[in-house]
Order: sequence, then C-alpha cells, then structure tokens
Amino acid sequence: MADLAIIGGTGLTKLESLKISDREIVHTPYGEPSGPLSHGQLYGKEIMFLPRHGYGHTIPPHKVNYRANLWALKEAGARCVFAVAAVGGIRGDMLPGKIVLPDQIIDYTWSRVTTFFEEGLKQVIHIDFTHPYAEALRQKILQAAAAANVPVINGVTYAATQGPRLETAAEIDRLEKDGCGIVGMTGMPEAALARELEMDYATCAVVANWAAGRGTGEITMKEIEAELAGGMKKVAKILAQLVKLV
Ligand code: HPA
Repeated sequence: MADLAIIGGTGLTKLESLKISDREIVHTPYGEPSGPLSHGQLYGKEIMFLPRHGYGHTIPPHKVNYRANLWALKEAGARCVFAVAAVGGIRGDMLPGKIVLPDQIIDYTWSRVTTFFEEGLKQVIHIDFTHPYAEALRQKILQAAAAANVPVINGVTYAATQGPRLETAAEIDRLEKDGCGIVGMTGMPEAALARELEMDYATCAVVANWAAGRGTGEITMKEIEAELAGGMKKVAKILAQLVKLV
C-alpha cells in the first residue's frame, strides 16, 4: 500500500512519470473528492496522486472539497502528503519559476469548511497548528531538492487567499506587511485538515507570477501556465529523489 500521496495543483493535473496501475473512486462521508485516486509507481515507488482541481482542472480553489480529498487519501492509506501549489511571488526574491518550501501560513480565506470536528463530538478538539507543515517531511524535501540540484527557498510564510480572483495591489502590500512571502488560494484548509487526520503534510510551491503590483502589467493565465511548465519539471526532479527518502 502506498503511504505517500501527491496532491497536484494548477499546472500538475497529471504526473508524467507516474505508471498508473489503478484508478480508485472513493466516496467519503464528506462528499466526492476532486476525482478518482490514481495509484501507481513513481520512479519505482508506490504512490497515489490526486489533482486538487480535478483531472480537467475545472474545480476553482473555493469549490475544492478539501475534506473529501484528504479523507479519501487517508482512507486509501496515505500517511504523508506532498502538496504542490502554484503561487504568486510577493517578496523580492520570490521570482517566477522559483521553488519555495513554506514553513508558515496565514489564512485569509473565508466561508470554507475548515474542519472535520463539527458534529457528533464527545469533546471539542483543537489541533496544535503552531507549525502547520510537518517538519520531518519538509527536511526530506529539502534533502531531495539538494540531491536533485534544484535550488529551493526555505522558510517562507504562505498567504492563503480566497480567490478565484487574484488580489489587488493593496491586498498584496498588506500581506507583505503581515510577513507573507508568497500567495496562493489552496493552502487552507488543506494543511489543517491533513493535521486533523494526523497525516504529515508539506507544500512545495512553484512561483507562477509576480503577485499583484509586484511585476509590470497584467497577470495573465498564459504567463502563469508558461512559468508553471518549467517549475513542474523542477518538482518532478525533487520527487524523483524524495521517493527514496519517504
Ligand atoms: N495569487 C493567488 N494565487 C495564485 C497566484 C497569485 O498571484 N498565482 C498563482 N496562484
């Protein structure tokens, strides 16, 4: 049974090197996940893969059924989750194309379902979320990136915004004042739900564009997609090494 799950983000609806052996449709008490789980071998290691936005990239960030996705992966035996995320670069060194391993999150999303602990509780449960990402997994990703010769910027705060629209320049200024280096729309509640299910979770972010007001001109999907294509090649190199470590 695979214990490593990969959640693909924008730009990663399929893993080119994954030799798929099975597609599993999982129904959960929380509804349907973004699609069937793909089981198979990635560089010789049994893993499972789920594209967060669906195989056709049709589910926007605020409509992703995060609970169903995490529950399905847990049910299928996942112990750790490598989450890939496209982000905008806020801080001056977060150039498009860079790979970033965040260590903190600030959640600016609203009206999303954020917990499994809602009903039928014997007692109220508060998970510890001081360090939102699993440090041991982060260290393994850093080790894998070093072995793959892929430079990674480590230890950045990820701002989770509601989307699906991109931010205003003033919103990005505020996020920077808050200490955020990168901005994306899917980091929460995914990370917290993984913690509730006691899965190790870490995000590998690919900077797709300069955040609003940080670059020149309009942010276009064309620009984002072009940058992500290169970024995902780097993520694949990291994964080729990571499968040996987890
Ligand atoms: N903002 C929010 N989410 C994103 C961005 C952005 O600029 N780029 C990719 N995902």
